[in-house]
Amino acid sequence: MCGIVGYIGNNAIKNTITGLKNLEYRGYDSSGIAYIKNNKVIIKKEVGRIDNLLTNLDYDNSVNIAIAHTRWATHGEANKTNAHPHKVGKITLVHNGIIENYEKLKEDLTDYSLISDTDTEVIAALIDKLYNKYSDMKLVLSKVTNLLKGSYALAIINDDIKDKMFAIRKDSPLIVGYDNKSTIIASDIPAILHVTKKYYLLNNYDILEISSNKLNIYDKDLNKIVKEENTYDADSTTISKDGYEHYMLKEINEEPDIFKNILDKYIINDKIVDIYDISKYENIEIVACGSATHAGLIGKYYIENLASIKTSVYYASEYRYQKHIYNQKTLVIVISQSGETADTKEALKIANEANLDTLAIVNVYKSSIARLAKNVIYTHAKIEVAVATTKAYMAQCLILLLLALKVNPDKTIINELHNIPNIMKKYIKKDYKEIASVISNYDHIFYLGRLVDYYLALEGSLKLKEISYIHSEAYPAGELKHGTISLMDNNVLVIAIVTDNKIKDKTISNIKEITARGAKVIAITNDNREFSDYKVLIEDNILIPFITIIPMQLIAYEVAKIKKCDIDKPRNLAKSVTVE
Ligand code: G6P
Repeated sequence: MCGIVGYIGNNAIKNTITGLKNLEYRGYDSSGIAYIKNNKVIIKKEVGRIDNLLTNLDYDNSVNIAIAHTRWATHGEANKTNAHPHKVGKITLVHNGIIENYEKLKEDLTDYSLISDTDTEVIAALIDKLYNKYSDMKLVLSKVTNLLKGSYALAIINDDIKDKMFAIRKDSPLIVGYDNKSTIIASDIPAILHVTKKYYLLNNYDILEISSNKLNIYDKDLNKIVKEENTYDADSTTISKDGYEHYMLKEINEEPDIFKNILDKYIINDKIVDIYDISKYENIEIVACGSATHAGLIGKYYIENLASIKTSVYYASEYRYQKHIYNQKTLVIVISQSGETADTKEALKIANEANLDTLAIVNVYKSSIARLAKNVIYTHAKIEVAVATTKAYMAQCLILLLLALKVNPDKTIINELHNIPNIMKKYIKKDYKEIASVISNYDHIFYLGRLVDYYLALEGSLKLKEISYIHSEAYPAGELKHGTISLMDNNVLVIAIVTDNKIKDKTISNIKEITARGAKVIAITNDNREFSDYKVLIEDNILIPFITIIPMQLIAYEVAKIKKCDIDKPRNLAKSVTVE
C-alpha cells in the first residue's frame, strides 16, 4: 500500500506527479510532494485524491528534484499532518511500508518533537539524528537498515545535499528507472513508463545515491553493485482508459484477448505445452488473498476433477499462522496479481523454508513473489489498474485450468477453450442495467451456489460489495437451511448461481425455500426453467465458469455506476496490499 515516487531531471514536479497518478491504485486517502526550489525544500500535502493536491500546485519547470507519495493510512488517520512527505531536521522523506519498532525507536529520539501519528516521521528523525552525527548519508542509511524493523521503501532528500536523492528498501517494492537525462524511483512500473522503459529491480537493503547524471547502488556494507538491466516490453498506452469510462470496464473488455493470448502461449497443436507439470504431487495447497483466493478455488475444482490431485485453498493471512502437516509430495501454489501482497509473500516463505516445491502464479513481472518462488507462471494480463480485479482473476483461473489439463489433456475441454473468447465477447456486449437497478435497491444481498457455483458466488459477491458498498455475502446454497435462512425476508435479495448441471436441481430447491420466505431471487443460470424472480440466462458450456464470471463482473460494475461510486478506486481499499 502507499505509492512513492522520486525523480531527478528536467521538469521534476510534472514527472513526479505523472508517476504518482499511476500509483494511485496503491492508496488514495491523502497525498503529498516535496521538491527543492531556490535551495529550499517545499512540501505540499492534501487529504483525499491526488487531484486535490494538484489544484494549487506550482508546476515550476525549473525544479529538478522531487519526491511524492500517495497514502493508504496505517498509523494515524488520513489528515494533512499524517500525509507524507515528512520533514524532520534536514531530512524529508516518503515511505511505503510499516515500521514495527517505531515506538521503541521514538524513545531514543526525545530531542525531537514529532507532530504526526505516523511511523514514518520517526524514520525521518532517526536519519536526521544519525546524519548530524556522521555527516555521510550512505553510511547513515546502512546503519538505518540495521535499526528499522518492518518494511520500507524510502525516497529521501537532505537539506545539505540539494543535488541528490537517496533511497533504501526492505520488503516493500521499489524500482529505479533511468535514461541519459533523468532517474526515477517508484513503487511500481506504471509510474516510470512516461520517463523510461529501462529499469533496475532492487533487493532488500540496497542503498541508492542518485544525482542528475549518476546512479550509484550499494549493498548494506556499502560495496558498489552492478544491476542487471530490465526493459519493460509492453506499450505504456496499456495504462490509459482507451476511451472507456472506467479502467474496470476497459479491463473486463480485455478479458477475451487475454484469454486468447494465454491459450496461444500454452496450447500448441492441441497440446498443453511449456507449463509446470503438477502430476508428481499428491497434495496441492493454494494460498492467496482476496479474489486470488477465489481463483484458487476455481483451480481446486479443475485440479481435483481433471487431475485427481487433492487440493486445498487457504487465505494467506491464516496460512501463515497455522500448523502445517506437509509431506514432500506437496506443492504450494501462491497466486497474486501484484506479486507484492504481504501475507501471500510470507506464506510463500514458509513453504520455501519447509523445502517444498513452490509455484507462483503472478501478473507483475519480476515482482517480489515472482522472484521468491521456486517456479513462476505469469498470467500475462498486462497492467491492471482498477482496484477490483477482473482480468487478472480470469487469467489466474485459466492458468490453473491449464495446469490441470496438462495432467489430463481432456480433448473436449481443450477444443472448447478456443471458443470461449468469442462467447465472452457476446456476454460483455449484453446490457445488465435493468438487473443492476433491481440490485441497487437492496441493502442486503446473498450470493448463493454450490461447489463451483459457490466459488463463483464468492467472487461475484466480493466484486459487488467492494465497488458498490452494498452489504453482500456469499453462502453455500445447501448450508442456508442450517441457520442463515432465518435472515430471508422481503428486505433481502438473493443472487443464485445455478450453472453446475450435476447439482443445480438441489440449488433450485434451495431457491424455492428462499422465495417461500419472501426474499426475491435473481438467478444467473443456464437453466430455462422458471424458478426465480429475475434471470440472467447463460448458454450451457463445459467451461461455463469462464462465461458466468463476465455478467457477474459487469453487474457489479453497473450497480456501482448507478450508486455513483468511485468504481476504479473504492473507498478504503488499495490494489496492492503490502501490509499485514
Ligand atoms: C487486494 C485487492 C484485491 C486482490 C487482493 C490480493 O485486496 O483489492 O483485488 O484480490 O488484494 O491481491 P494480489 O495482488 O495478491 O492478487
